[in-house]
Parts: sequence; structure tokens; C-alpha cells
Amino acid sequence: MRSTELTPARADPMAPVPYTVLKVSRETPDTYTLLIQPQNSSSLERFQPGQFSMMWSFGVGEVPISMSGDTSEPAQLVYTIRSVGQVSRALVTTRPGATIGVRGPFGAGWPLAEASGRDVIIMAGGIGLAPLRPAIYEVLRNRSKYGRLIVLYGTRHPRDLLFRKELTAWVRQPDTQVFTTVDSGGLEWRGHVGVVTTLLRYARLQPDRSIAMICGPEIMMRFSARELGAHGVPSTNIYLSMERNMKCAVGFCGHCQWGPHFICKDGPVFPYDRIGPLLTRHEL
Ligand SMILES: Cc1cc2nc3c(=O)[nH]c(=O)nc-3n(C[C@H](O)[C@H](O)[C@H](O)COP(=O)(O)OP(=O)(O)OC[C@H]3O[C@@H](n4cnc5c(N)ncnc54)[C@H](O)[C@@H]3O)c2cc1C
Ligand code: FES
Repeated sequence: MRSTELTPARADPMAPVPYTVLKVSRETPDTYTLLIQPQNSSSLERFQPGQFSMMWSFGVGEVPISMSGDTSEPAQLVYTIRSVGQVSRALVTTRPGATIGVRGPFGAGWPLAEASGRDVIIMAGGIGLAPLRPAIYEVLRNRSKYGRLIVLYGTRHPRDLLFRKELTAWVRQPDTQVFTTVDSGGLEWRGHVGVVTTLLRYARLQPDRSIAMICGPEIMMRFSARELGAHGVPSTNIYLSMERNMKCAVGFCGHCQWGPHFICKDGPVFPYDRIGPLLTRHEL
């Protein structure tokens, strides 16, 4: 059974709940982390790593955003948002004290129950580290429950690296390897250059006893899953978080349909053996 039992839907899953923005922190030139708190504490619902919310900027619109905070601190929610368009820009420019709307949590998250007793391989591209961060927190908080933690993270440029202080702190944790890479580094960059899959050669992999969790651009996930397979990780042990435009987020409208799947309720996290063939079909 997946570790990610769905949180029971509230009476009206379509009604946004008002939250107050407590803090907005700049992570990179276009990405910000919002800390928010419900205006009525009874509205709080626990979330599972990998789940997402629908976030409303009132008067502008609503978009799906994954939780990026720690499930052990449910009183406040954390989201890391890249400003790419109208709604995401409105959310990241919200002032502390302002009200936004939140629906959720929705969807199936990362397979942390299945990962128990195994090594956990995290592969992230760009903003994809944000939906994976709650899973990393979970592994680090319950260190004896899991084997090695291997974090492989790639961005376009060093300035796009998220959570830099935490990346440095995670390296110092027992049985943990963290490697970063960029597509193009510039003169100041002394680190690795290349796509994220090139980092696999540095990882102390035990493929047959590992679970891999991947989030990033679709092409990055496709190549990462393929490369993990080539290293011997079974496709049943590789999980990807998919993105599509959403409206209802509860399986009513069909907006997020992808082949036979509704990403909002069957995903966003899927096992690779279920969706691998769909990933190569561009017309979907
Ligand atoms: C389950 C899920 C979880 C997500 N989690 C996060 C997160 O944690 N942080 C984050 O920054 N973003 C996340 N996203 C993506 C986020 O929802 C989109 O960036 C947002 O909807 C863009 O809306 P907009 O109005 O700002 O931009 P728009 O004006 O709608 O779009 C701007 C650009 O982004 C593209 N775009 C729009 N929606 C998506 C999408 N869903 N996926 C990929 N490209 C899109 C458009 O094609 C366009 O090029 C998630 C998406 C899903 C489905
Ligand atoms: S967003 Fe409506 S069915 Fe998924």
C-alpha cells in the first residue's frame, strides 16, 4: 500500500480556505518560498510528502503548487513557487499579512512506506527539488528507518539552485550523499557541469535495494528513469511526479487527464512502470 493515503476530502473540496501569508523568502531570482497559516486553525489538514494544494490569488486565479515544507510541522504550510506567469507571479508578490486561498491537500505522494528499509535516491531538476524536500525531511527525521539517502540535483545555472544552506547541511548527515550540477556554470562555478544523470556515477548505488523519486522537467524525468533502469533500479521502484494544467484537482473536470490517468487524483506521483510508455507519446 502507498504511504500516501489521501487526506479525507473536506465538505466542499472546491471551496478555498483563507490563509494568511506570514513570510515570503526569496530563494533565487524567480523563485520564492511562502509560509502561510490558516485563519481558522480547524481548517488544517495533514499532508503527505509529494501532495499539492490549489492556491488562489484572489482576483487573479488558481494554480496547483506542491507542499515544500516539513510534514512534522503541520500548523503552517510552506510552498516554493517559481514565478512563470500571471498567478504564480501574483502569489510570490503577495505581502505578509495578506490573504490567499488554499484547497487541498490533494493527490498521491511519494512512496515513503515502500522506501522503508531501502536506500532512497532523490533526483531533482530545477524547481523539482521543492516537491521532494518533504520526502528528504521525512528520511532525515527517521534516519534509522531508511538506508542511504542520495540526492542528485541539477539546475540550469548556479543562481537557480534552491535551498543552498540545506544542501550543504544534508551532506553532513550520516549515510547521505548530495551532489549538484548545472548546465552552465560561468567563471565562478567550481562544481560539476552536466545533466543530472551524469551525477549517478558518483553515487554509491545499491540498485536492487533502492527506491528512486524523481521530479523536474518531463525530459529530465524520462532520461533519469531510463538511466536508473540502466543502472539496475527496477522500474517498479522508480517514481515520478507529473504536471499538467489543473482546474478542479479532484477528478471531476478531466482537465488534467493524461492517457487513462487523472494526474490530480491518480498522481501526481506515479510509479514508472505504470506511466513509462505514456512519457514517450507527445500527443497526450
Ligand atoms: C501537481 C503540480 C504541482 C506543482 N508544484 C509546483 C511547485 O511546487 N512550485 C512551482 O513553482 N510550480 C509548481 N507547479 C507548476 C505550477 O502549477 C505552474 O507553474 C503554474 O500553474 C503556472 O501558472 P501561471 O498562471 O503563473 O502561469 P501561466 O500563465 O499559466 O503559464 C506560464 C508558463 O508556464 C507553463 N505552465 C503553466 N502551467 C504549467 C504546469 N502545470 N506545468 C508546467 N508548465 C506550466 C505555461 O505553458 C507557460 O509557458 C505544479 C504543477 C502541478 C500540476
Ligand atoms: S484537474 Fe479536474 S480532473 Fe484533474
